[in-house]
Amino acid sequence: KELTSVRLLNSLQYPDGPCDIALVKIPKHLSLLEDQLYRMRRSLHPDTHIIGAGMARHIHTSTLDLFERIVGPTRTSLARKKARLIFCQPNPAIDPGDSPYPTYYTFENTAYRLANQAGLFSREKLDNGTRLLLEHIPRSDRKQTIIDLGCGNGVIGMVATERNPAAAVTFVDESFLAVASAEENFRAVFSDGRWAAFRTIDCLNGIPSGSADLILTNPPFHRDRAVGDAVAWQMFSEAGSVLKPGGTLMVVGNRHLGYHAKLKRLFGNCRTMSTDTKFVVLESVR
Ligand SMILES: C[S@@+](CC[C@H](N)C(=O)[O-])C[C@H]1O[C@@H](n2cnc3c(N)ncnc32)[C@H](O)[C@@H]1O
Repeated sequence: KELTSVRLLNSLQYPDGPCDIALVKIPKHLSLLEDQLYRMRRSLHPDTHIIGAGMARHIHTSTLDLFERIVGPTRTSLARKKARLIFCQPNPAIDPGDSPYPTYYTFENTAYRLANQAGLFSREKLDNGTRLLLEHIPRSDRKQTIIDLGCGNGVIGMVATERNPAAAVTFVDESFLAVASAEENFRAVFSDGRWAAFRTIDCLNGIPSGSADLILTNPPFHRDRAVGDAVAWQMFSEAGSVLKPGGTLMVVGNRHLGYHAKLKRLFGNCRTMSTDTKFVVLESVR
């Protein structure tokens, strides 16, 4: 068959079925794969060929078990150049039940019940770094613009919304699943007309310069397996132009990541707000 068109779907959309060949790039997080297999199931028929591809180090017995449990009989190829293929044939008799996603946890000492789509950062409980940052989110009655950068399930932006009744908060993340979770969580708590924006973008791409009073972030500290700070660096430097003069960037991170030096270099100032054995909360003013 000739391929006549390609339609791109984001991770929240279901492909229209039925499909004859399904190609899956095996994600690093098992929960993401589980979510994708549940979504994909709807468009499979008994003769669909499913071919997964991934780095051998991301393919474990648990990966194959997921295919077997949700879709059907599964086998793998030998590894070639550190990569492997997975072949799976749907078995219509399998009933894996409903997808477990999103999962929920109750945010300590509040009535917030936080939804977390598959693959989200710290989706079973509040991250300790995030908790430390929450202690320092300022309170104010003035009209202002706040950004939760790399919002995940949106807990930082929600606390900022609560403490700043006149603020407009924008939630941004590169992950559609994260932004969907943040929006669901915000709407469940602030159903009474509080305004917020939800953007799936890379860092602060497209947010006007000089538009924000406060940017709050717990930046991603690794991508894939290589521990790197390129995204954090990009977030900090873009925050430098998106903030209004006098606006504040507040960051939490592992102490060993050395964000202090980076922020000092970019902003010319960096104040330590709080520190514990593992994390540090820093503030730079544009
Ligand atoms: C350490 S998590 C923090 C999540 C949430 N704010 C919290 O504290 O629980 C970092 C977040 O940054 C997001 N992220 C990673 N790379 C990004 C990028 N290039 N642009 C925007 N967000 C990104 C991730 O999807 C993740 O949700």
